[in-house]
Amino acid sequence: AQRPRIFSGMQPTSGSLHLGNYLGALTQWVRLQEDHDAIYCVVDLHALTVSPDPADLRARTRRTAAQYLAAGVDPARSILFVQSHVPEHAELAWILSCQTGFGEAGRMTQFKDKSARHGSEGTTVGLFTYPVLMAADILLYDTNLVPVGEDQRQHLELSRNLAQRLNARFGAGTAVVPEPYIVKETAKIYDLQDPTAKMSKSAASPNGIIELLDDPTVVAKRIRSAVTDAGREVRFDVDAKPGVSNLLTIFAALTGRPLPSIEADYEGKGYGDLKKDLAEVVVDLLVPFQERFAGHLESPEALDDLLAEGAERARALARPVLARAYDRFGL
Ligand code: ADP
Ligand code: NA
Repeated sequence: AQRPRIFSGMQPTSGSLHLGNYLGALTQWVRLQEDHDAIYCVVDLHALTVSPDPADLRARTRRTAAQYLAAGVDPARSILFVQSHVPEHAELAWILSCQTGFGEAGRMTQFKDKSARHGSEGTTVGLFTYPVLMAADILLYDTNLVPVGEDQRQHLELSRNLAQRLNARFGAGTAVVPEPYIVKETAKIYDLQDPTAKMSKSAASPNGIIELLDDPTVVAKRIRSAVTDAGREVRFDVDAKPGVSNLLTIFAALTGRPLPSIEADYEGKGYGDLKKDLAEVVVDLLVPFQERFAGHLESPEALDDLLAEGAERARALARPVLARAYDRFGL
């Protein structure tokens, strides 16, 4: 029997991925490749929505791929490639954009937030149609499951609606309807300085983010100065203690330990003890991660070869799916 198909991707929009990307997405990817047919993509076309410098974009695309590898994405088991190397993504995106309502796309909350930030002249049509390109990424591989963080749930709903729309119009089997795969515990990692906002590369202050490629001493310092509350008790309570709860979530996810046992360890101790121990756990993750990352960047030719091979494998899967869509639409 065929194993369930997984697709996911991240944008190469910054020099480093952050701990939210790592826990919300990357660690799930690594786990899921064990028993799924997994396809992982660096979605560089998506990054164009914010007009990156070309040389930066090229470097960041490589760096993002190297971080996937450093986290444990295994090209022997998973397909790892760069979105723009497979032109079928853009072709299917056009078809799907002709199936998406203008109002439907306008209801995407991420677009509303981002366009409000950029203003009307600074907002591109690409930013508006971004979720349609994402739907194309997913439907192009007859994807069953999409591991993402909570912030992508609405976009995934659009992908599902589009797949169902194609099936209603052209018959069942035209598109596979994808399911989100969202692990509740780590679906939303919060900013260290503003623990009610998600950790994000577009954060107001760099001190709230833990970047995987940051200097470990800086990271340790950021964890020790994370915002908590006026209380003393180390207890998981997202509403009353968002800062402490976020630290506990990260601690539990990185050590694989259940929350109650961690809470028990800190009975009679303070937030400072928790922060100190968490800083150690994170540094222990980052040091070997950064070594593996550096190793991959040291041989850019090998990395490029690996990505070229991934693109070929991805294309072999994408071509018949696009051909099916062309056929149905009369192209
Ligand atoms: P960002 O939100 O920093 O712009 P991306 O949009 O590139 O990052 O997200 C890449 C992946 O990481 C997506 O699957 C997204 O859901 C996940 N993700 C991003 N931020 C977080 C977070 N704070 N907590 C959990 N998952 C996250
Ligand atoms: Na995001």
